[in-house]
Amino acid sequence: MTISSPSAIRPRERDALLQSLRSGVVPRIGQQHVQVGRVNEVKALLSDINRVNDGGSGSRFVIGDYGSGKTFFLHVVRSIALQQKLVTVHADLSPDRRLHATGGQARSLYAELMRNMSTRAKPDGGAMSSVVERFVTQALTESRGSGEPVESIIRRHLIELSELTGGYDFAEVIAKYWQGHDTGNEQLKADAIRWLRGEFSTRTDARSALGVRTIIDDSNFYDQLKLLARFVRLAGFGGILVCLDEMVNLYKLANSQARNSNYEQILRILNDSTQGSAAGLGFIFGGTPDFLLDPRRGLYSYAALQSRLEVNSYAVDGLVDYSGPILRLASLTPEDFYVLLSKLRHVQAAGDKSAYLINDDGIAQYMSHCAQRIGDAYFRTPRNTIKGFLDLLAVLEQNPDRKWTDLITGVTLERETNPDLALLETDADQEPAPFLPRTSVRPAQPADGLRPKNDTDDELSAFRL
Ligand SMILES: Nc1ncnc2c1ncn2[C@@H]1O[C@H](COP(=O)(O)OP(=O)(O)OP(=O)(O)O)[C@@H](O)[C@H]1O
Ligand SMILES: [Mg+2]
Repeated sequence: MTISSPSAIRPRERDALLQSLRSGVVPRIGQQHVQVGRVNEVKALLSDINRVNDGGSGSRFVIGDYGSGKTFFLHVVRSIALQQKLVTVHADLSPDRRLHATGGQARSLYAELMRNMSTRAKPDGGAMSSVVERFVTQALTESRGSGEPVESIIRRHLIELSELTGGYDFAEVIAKYWQGHDTGNEQLKADAIRWLRGEFSTRTDARSALGVRTIIDDSNFYDQLKLLARFVRLAGFGGILVCLDEMVNLYKLANSQARNSNYEQILRILNDSTQGSAAGLGFIFGGTPDFLLDPRRGLYSYAALQSRLEVNSYAVDGLVDYSGPILRLASLTPEDFYVLLSKLRHVQAAGDKSAYLINDDGIAQYMSHCAQRIGDAYFRTPRNTIKGFLDLLAVLEQNPDRKWTDLITGVTLERETNPDLALLETDADQEPAPFLPRTSVRPAQPADGLRPKNDTDDELSAFRL
């Protein structure tokens, strides 16, 4: 196995990485220092990013078991998209944040996406004002060159938006931002940004603040994303990548009508991306196999989606296909995990090999300790074993008189359980889900594509209950 030569690690990245991983969350920055595997998956997403940059569109479903690395992968893709001059927005779905709703949950998802709007210069979110500002600055520069009034340039550029649903008011709000900019009216600028971020809750308020009749609400969630994608292109970016994680929350919706309306929204998105009709807009959805495959509550319960998201039946027995909308994220392997621990050791030592707190033999021994304690969950759902390893390094760092040989067997490890499943068991849903396993630890599965739904092994035959 080869370990690529590690690069320098900035102290800020080191601390952020170690802190997130020790608290069990996926790091927001510096993932490249710990990332292992996923070369083909990253390549596939890079081609989507390039397509969006060229004014195209795309949708991918990143499907992986509980704890297999979906969120990590989404973050990696997001940082590549930022490097490639896309704007990114990301959010986790939750009971209060959905793609379709009538009680404000879709607006709430929209607002969360907008709060997290990022660009290369502002990778930590809150980038809406700088994107709008950039559009206005470009118009100012153009006006200086041509003598045409800024407002007329802005309106001329925004004309292409008016052919889209909601485009007229969108353009109006941008024009108001310009007026605020021009007259030093900070309140007007702030109101325009607030509108774009989906933070107005009543039409009356929006009308008195900005003179527009509409607001971003549940009914126009997706239309607004399409408008925004066009707009960021006018502001000089390639487009928008929308990262939606925890899609399992749709599968968990007890009300089948609510679930289907959300799936219908996904179908709309998918159709637009295959037809290329959403310019500069890419989607990446993260979800568990249940969310996709379950024939009663998953995407496969919606016939039109099942036919579009059918797994390539030739991609079996180790053959792969990265071109379809489904990207199956296999669990990490023991080899990946070994490389991952080596990288963590390197990060912990801030890139200084002479400061390593544990040698290669120690890493191997830590792995066999994990295997004894929790079986192959140690590399399949590595959140706790990563945390345990970093805890070990922290103790070694602060107690230089102790040796790793004394400490490894003392590291306590717990098997991870999937909280979603526990939730489902107590769900008030009338459709009980007796087939769901109780823990996240699943029997070893082949690392090939998803199995077809008519597979007859035990786990899936139970799905037909
Ligand atoms: N390719 C990778 N390289 C390095 N570390 C990874 C990789 N993939 C996942 N990890 C680490 O593994 C742990 C689990 O990953 P992550 O949280 O992304 O899983 P998940 O599939 O999103 O889990 P959940 O189903 O709970 O949402 C995290 O600590 C993450 O940092
Ligand atoms: Mg996750």
